[in-house]
Amino acid sequence: MWTLRRSHLCLTFLLVCVLSGVSFLHYQGLFHSGLDLSFLFAHRHRVTAPVAIFCLSGTPRTNTSSSCPKPPASLSGAWTISPAGRLGNQMGQYATLLALAQLNGRQAFILPGMHAVLAPLFRITLPVLAPDVDSHSPWRNLQLHDWMSEEYAHLEDPFLKLSGFPCSWTFFHHLWGQIRSEFTLHDHLREKAQGLLRQLRLRSTRGLPSTFVGVHVRRGDYLQIMPRHWKGVVGDRAYLRQAMNWFRARHKAPIFVVTSNGMEWCRENIDTSQGDVVFAGDGQEASPGKDFALLTQCNHTIMTIGTFGFWAAYLAGGDTVYLANFTLPSSSFLDIFKPEAAFLPEWVGINADLSPLQ
Ligand SMILES: *[C@@H]1O[C@H](CO)[C@@H](O)[C@H](O)[C@H]1NC(C)=O
Ligand SMILES: *[C@@H]1O[C@H](CO)[C@@H](O)[C@H](O)[C@H]1NC(C)=O
Repeated sequence: MWTLRRSHLCLTFLLVCVLSGVSFLHYQGLFHSGLDLSFLFAHRHRVTAPVAIFCLSGTPRTNTSSSCPKPPASLSGAWTISPAGRLGNQMGQYATLLALAQLNGRQAFILPGMHAVLAPLFRITLPVLAPDVDSHSPWRNLQLHDWMSEEYAHLEDPFLKLSGFPCSWTFFHHLWGQIRSEFTLHDHLREKAQGLLRQLRLRSTRGLPSTFVGVHVRRGDYLQIMPRHWKGVVGDRAYLRQAMNWFRARHKAPIFVVTSNGMEWCRENIDTSQGDVVFAGDGQEASPGKDFALLTQCNHTIMTIGTFGFWAAYLAGGDTVYLANFTLPSSSFLDIFKPEAAFLPEWVGINADLSPLQ
């Protein structure tokens, strides 16, 4: 009896040893060569990771079967982007990083500098990379140009640090819903903007449901940079008049909500004789959140130039009128900026008056 019990115990002990050894190996991911069991483990234990159905490697993959997706490469490595520029630039960088990482099966992280700019406004979800991890990761650097190209769909690098000023819908428009959700305003900002628009609606006495057209007039540093550096112009009073008339011809009782980092100029140059213009922006370049929130809560957009206006229009999602051909054809700006990749095909361009450059 005793001998039997002892052999029973021994067997149990052996079994426990073998089982714990096996699960240890599973944890260490040492079974990669035969079975992709680490994925099964990831599925069961890492509740924060998105749940997906994984295949045992070696399962024949037919074109008709959708049950065997490519295993994500994202369990190791990291992609990020060097934050640069102001709000609109960093929104473009964020959206591009998210889209390219997703396309190549990598996990995207943002750096603390980008978090500091975007998180006060938006309910963004990409994790932030600790500075220590940033400084110890074996990055390859890649400077992006501002339109999608084939090579960006086949980037193999586990550690990739992007840079540049990408802000083209060609990177991320297929993820429109996701991008919109990433750039959802915090409640207090949205409510403040909505409160302001409600007051404007009450002020307009026509009793019609109001259509709000956000007008973003980019001035400031661009007044010098455009003509001197890029042989280009910014939106002038003639452009704004044409753009506003475009909306007046198509929408009943529009209310134009003007924001700018040059509000003085706007007050002097925008025609208010029709009583449908409100100068609502506070033009704070250091904290652009209030103006941005206001523009995205409008129904439609008139933009001039710059990524701030692009994002306001893209998120507002209505009709958009933009300033087209705002540089001379010889401008080197056209080497880095492709209009067809910058403006959605359904947006309406009005040609700039380039005569001040001649
Ligand atoms: C226009 O925008 C206002 C303010 O955000 C909103 O209340 C209204 O529903 C919008 N109108 C349409 C037709 O979407
Ligand atoms: C801008 O210029 C190009 C080339 O002259 C022209 O084809 C295009 O229609 C212009 N854009 C608009 C919005 O008029």
